[in-house]
Amino acid sequence: MGSSEWQFKSRFEPELPVPDVAPRKVATGFLPVIALDRKSSTPLHRQIYDIYRAAIVNGNLAPLQKIPSSRALAAELRISRIPVLSAYAQLLGEGYLESVGGGGTFVSKSLPDRFPSSQHRREETPKVHSGPRPISSRSATLPSFIGAPWLVGRGAFTVGQVAVEHFPFHVWLRLVSRYYKSVRAAPLYFSDPMGSKDFRSSIAKYLRTVRSVKCDADQIMVVSGSQQALDVAARVLLDPGDSVWLEEPGYSLSRRVFMLAGCRLIPVPVDQEGLNVAAGIRLCKNARAAYVTPSHQFPLGATMSSSRRHQLLEWAQQVGAWIIEDDYDSEYRYESSPIASLQGLDRNSRVIYVGTFSKTLYPSLRVGYVVIPTDLVDRFAATRLAMDVYPSDLFQAVLSDFINEGHYSRHLRRTSLLYRERREALVNAIAEQFGSAVQVQGEQSGLHLVATLPEGLDDQQVAKRAAAKNVWAWPLSTCYLGRPVLQGLVLGFGSTPLAEVGPAIRRLNKAIDELR
Ligand SMILES: Cc1ncc(COP(=O)(O)O)c(C=O)c1O
Repeated sequence: MGSSEWQFKSRFEPELPVPDVAPRKVATGFLPVIALDRKSSTPLHRQIYDIYRAAIVNGNLAPLQKIPSSRALAAELRISRIPVLSAYAQLLGEGYLESVGGGGTFVSKSLPDRFPSSQHRREETPKVHSGPRPISSRSATLPSFIGAPWLVGRGAFTVGQVAVEHFPFHVWLRLVSRYYKSVRAAPLYFSDPMGSKDFRSSIAKYLRTVRSVKCDADQIMVVSGSQQALDVAARVLLDPGDSVWLEEPGYSLSRRVFMLAGCRLIPVPVDQEGLNVAAGIRLCKNARAAYVTPSHQFPLGATMSSSRRHQLLEWAQQVGAWIIEDDYDSEYRYESSPIASLQGLDRNSRVIYVGTFSKTLYPSLRVGYVVIPTDLVDRFAATRLAMDVYPSDLFQAVLSDFINEGHYSRHLRRTSLLYRERREALVNAIAEQFGSAVQVQGEQSGLHLVATLPEGLDDQQVAKRAAAKNVWAWPLSTCYLGRPVLQGLVLGFGSTPLAEVGPAIRRLNKAIDELR
C-alpha cells in the first residue's frame, strides 16, 4: 500500500453516523465575483450567465444555495435589470437554477444531464513551479510530514491519546456556556501575550503544590501545548549553530523544534537513571541547552535519579547552559509517589519548565504552559508577540474555573485509576501472549510503555504489519536520532478500553508470527 493512501485517513477510523436529513435550501452563501467588462463585445447578459454557470459547474455555488434577486444583483452591478433577467432566464431554462414560487431563485439540486455531479470540476489549481523557489535550509532539513503507517490510525494503543470518553463534557459544557452567555465572554481587544492572569495564577498554585515548582503567576506563559513552549524557548535562548543535548532515544517532535532553530543536535544516551550527563559532557561539554523529560523519560520511561538531576544542574551552571524540562505526563504515577520537578531543585534559574493539558484532559485542547526564569520573562513575552501575539482566551477562562472548582483534581483521580487498570491489563496481556520473549519497561507512570522485541525482528516491519490489524504501536527505532540500540514498540494504553487490550495484543502476536 502506497504511503499516500495512509496519509491522514485510516481505514479503521470509526464511521460516524450520517444524519438522515434532506438537503436544505441555503439562504446565504458566498457569491461569485462579477467583474463586468463594459467594453467587451460579449454582451452583459452573456457575461453574467458565463460567470454563474462556471461557478455552478465548478461546485463553488452549492446545490440549493440562494442567489440574489435580479433586482439586487442589478443594483449591485449598477446595470439595468434586463441583462440579469436574461442571464437568469437562460440558467433557469438550462436547469442550472430553479425558482421556488415567490421564495427566490436557487442553484438546482441536481445539475443538467450534460454535467452529472461526478463531472463537477473545480478550477484547476495552477501547478506551474518554474523559476527559483528558494525555501529556508532549516525548513528543508525537517523530515517529511507524510504519516508513517503507524501514525495515521486511531484504535488500540495509539500513542498520545487519552480516555476522551471519560472526560466530563457535561461540566465542561456548563463552564463554556457560562462564558458565552455573559459579556465577560471574549475580550474584543488585544490581550496579554503571557495569557490571562487568573489562569496563570491557577496554574502557578497547582504547580507549586503538586510539582514543587518555584514560581508565581508572572513567570507563567500560556501556550498552545508543549510544542509551542519548546518553540518559544528555542527562539529566545538559542542561535543557529548552537548545540543542544537531546535524549537518545527521545521525543521526535522536540527534535523538529531544535532543527528548525538551526541547532546542532547532540543525541545523549539515556539509561535507567535518565539522561547520562557524563556522556553528554564527553560528547559536547559546551552545549547551550539540554532538553529532558526527567519525570518519565520519553519513550523508555526512566525517572531521572537524584544524582543525575544534581549533575545536570551543576553542568548547566558551570557552562552557562539552559535546561528545558518537559514534564508532560507526571500526573500519572502508579508505583511511587510523585517526585518533585527538576525546576524545584534548581537554585540558579537555569530550568525552563514546560507542562501541558494534553495528557490530563485531551491533546486537541492545545493548552500548555511554560514557567520562565524571572529575568527572561520580558524576552519570552516580546518573542511571543512576534509569533501569535497571545493565546486564545476562552479555554483559559474555562480551565481556570475547571481547576478552581475542583473538577480537575477529581478528573485526575478518576483517570489515574482508569489508566492504572488499563496499564495492568496491557502488562498482563503481553506476559500471557509473549512470556519472557518481550520485555516491558517504563510502565510505572504515564500513558505509554515500551515492549522490547526479540532479536531479529525489525520494529518498523512489525508496526506496519500491526497497523494493518488495527494496532497502532510506534516503532522504538524511530525515536532514535542515531543508530537504534533497541528494537521495540511504544504502546499507548490511555485510549484503549480494557476489553480491547487482550484481543489487540493477540492481533499483535499474529502480526509478529506472520513476519517470522
Ligand atoms: C515527551 C512529550 N512531550 C510533550 C507531549 C505533549 O505535547 P503537546 O503539549 O504539544 O500536545 C508529548 C505527547 O505525547 C510527549 O510525548
